[in-house]
Amino acid sequence: MNETWIILGATSSMARAMARRLADDGKGLILAARDMKDVQATAADCAARGAALAEAVAFDARDPKSFEAIIDRAAREDGMVSCAVFVGSMPDQADISADPSLVDGTVMDSFTGPARFLERLAPLMEERGGGTVVGVGSVAGDRGRVGNYVYGAAKAGFHTYMSGLRNRLTRAGAHAVTVKPGFVDTAMTWGLEGMFLVASPDDVARDILRGVEKKKNVVYTPFFWRYIMRIIKSVPEPIFKKLSI
Ligand SMILES: NC(=O)c1ccc[n+]([C@@H]2O[C@H](COP(=O)([O-])OP(=O)(O)OC[C@H]3O[C@@H](n4cnc5c(N)ncnc54)[C@H](OP(=O)(O)O)[C@@H]3O)[C@@H](O)[C@H]2O)c1
Repeated sequence: MNETWIILGATSSMARAMARRLADDGKGLILAARDMKDVQATAADCAARGAALAEAVAFDARDPKSFEAIIDRAAREDGMVSCAVFVGSMPDQADISADPSLVDGTVMDSFTGPARFLERLAPLMEERGGGTVVGVGSVAGDRGRVGNYVYGAAKAGFHTYMSGLRNRLTRAGAHAVTVKPGFVDTAMTWGLEGMFLVASPDDVARDILRGVEKKKNVVYTPFFWRYIMRIIKSVPEPIFKKLSI
């Protein structure tokens, strides 16, 4: 059965690692990003690896006008349509506090833009009776922390959205996997202090595809973040509010 994956935020190194693995498996790829030059290079690499389709398309989560052409392009392919969302931005919390207008873009990139795209895509997946949505959230969405609570809130919104979308898609034979990475060595975290247990983008891509194959609902990557977050979530609020973790 043919399967075409739409990858949103395809310039992320996690997205690139997943695209490479899908290409090796002969899947079709529609690689969507803002930076066309960068994403075209990934498309060429995926084509060389054996992807059934490897096309670069323009996508901006803050511009819903860019969404239709991507979904129309996917609809022209036979078989299942799947989508992986890697889009997200994490401005410094101090910058957001100094300029609260940055809240809007942060929420648009991680939550409302992807949600709006997926609402348009879901009917096509239901009509085809299958496919998978991978939504990359973050452990930061599991509990609001002083260092990144606007980003965390956007991810928490996206987690809840993904849970509802999973509930919806399962009725049509499709599936949705929520992915919660811990620290990953990517452009987003370069130069950040205090990181530990840092994973590689390829480790994350491997865990995501394992989760897709096993139809997991929520994947923490690496796996031990499930237990770390269980502890962090269990700290009573009167204590948690005094911590700087
Ligand atoms: N790195 C970590 O430790 C970590 C941990 C947990 C979760 N995550 C999440 O993992 C995902 C991938 O992030 P990353 O670490 O690989 O960092 P990244 O390289 O900064 O990737 C973020 C991706 O989102 C894209 N993007 C941001 N705003 C966009 C917009 N308005 N329209 C279209 N694309 C937009 C970026 O495109 P441009 O290249 O054009 O900027 C980039 O492709 C994100 O959702 C992030 O929140 C990362």
